[in-house]
Amino acid sequence: LPLQELNAFSLLEEQIEALTGAKKVIIVPGNVDDDESVKWQLGKAGSKLVLDLIEENSTIAITGGSTVAKMVELIPQRQEGKTHTIIIPARGSVGKRMEFQANILAAEFAKKINGKYEILNIPDNLSVASIETIKQEPHIQKTLQKMGKSDMIILGLGDAMKMAKRRNESKEVVALLKEKEAVAEAFRYYFDKNGEIVYSGTNIGLDLEVAMQISTRIVLAGGKSKAIALVATKALLKGSYLVIDEGVARSMLQVS
Ligand code: G3H
Repeated sequence: LPLQELNAFSLLEEQIEALTGAKKVIIVPGNVDDDESVKWQLGKAGSKLVLDLIEENSTIAITGGSTVAKMVELIPQRQEGKTHTIIIPARGSVGKRMEFQANILAAEFAKKINGKYEILNIPDNLSVASIETIKQEPHIQKTLQKMGKSDMIILGLGDAMKMAKRRNESKEVVALLKEKEAVAEAFRYYFDKNGEIVYSGTNIGLDLEVAMQISTRIVLAGGKSKAIALVATKALLKGSYLVIDEGVARSMLQVS
């Protein structure tokens, strides 16, 4: 790329840093809503950032979704040498598309870097009573504790209603989300435009407060349609690394 193009988004990146308080913003050209290939760019930029920031023998929590999946896909296979880095899914499964689930992505990521992984093999949307029982299982406790001490979290963020559909939330939950005007979803939490949690799915996974304490947070999200979601979750983005596309970046400035 010519130098001019490399720096094309530096002003926009600065504006988004000022808006969100993100530690660093990386913007790729295009808008994923109009052009799926932009997801490749997001994945590529995300994987490069993650590899730059990973430290040996660390613990990394990861969520699901198609953007994080692309990032994992584009991590090059480490040819030799093992690492003690452990990848842990930040939540149980979601939706029907197996390849987007955090469990699968954790395993794939670990294989790419010759590291280790753990899985949280629990179906989504269990009853509260079942969740409470499963949570007490010693191996689940151990994984949750380890996850709480993660050095890095990599997460996708989405529009609330789209994610509710993908997660097959019940009619009651969808009605609640509408009534409370949910706009954003990230690892089972639904937020309104002020960033207040309006609902959190019944699942085992990382708690929001715990996630906020993780020192290196990387958020990947593209597409104009995610602008309101990103602006709403400013508290999560503060101090994070943010990998977004041009479409959502420009739109964020308009809606804020
Ligand atoms: O919680 C939000 C999702 O992880 C975003 O999924 O990357 O497929 O849009 P996506």
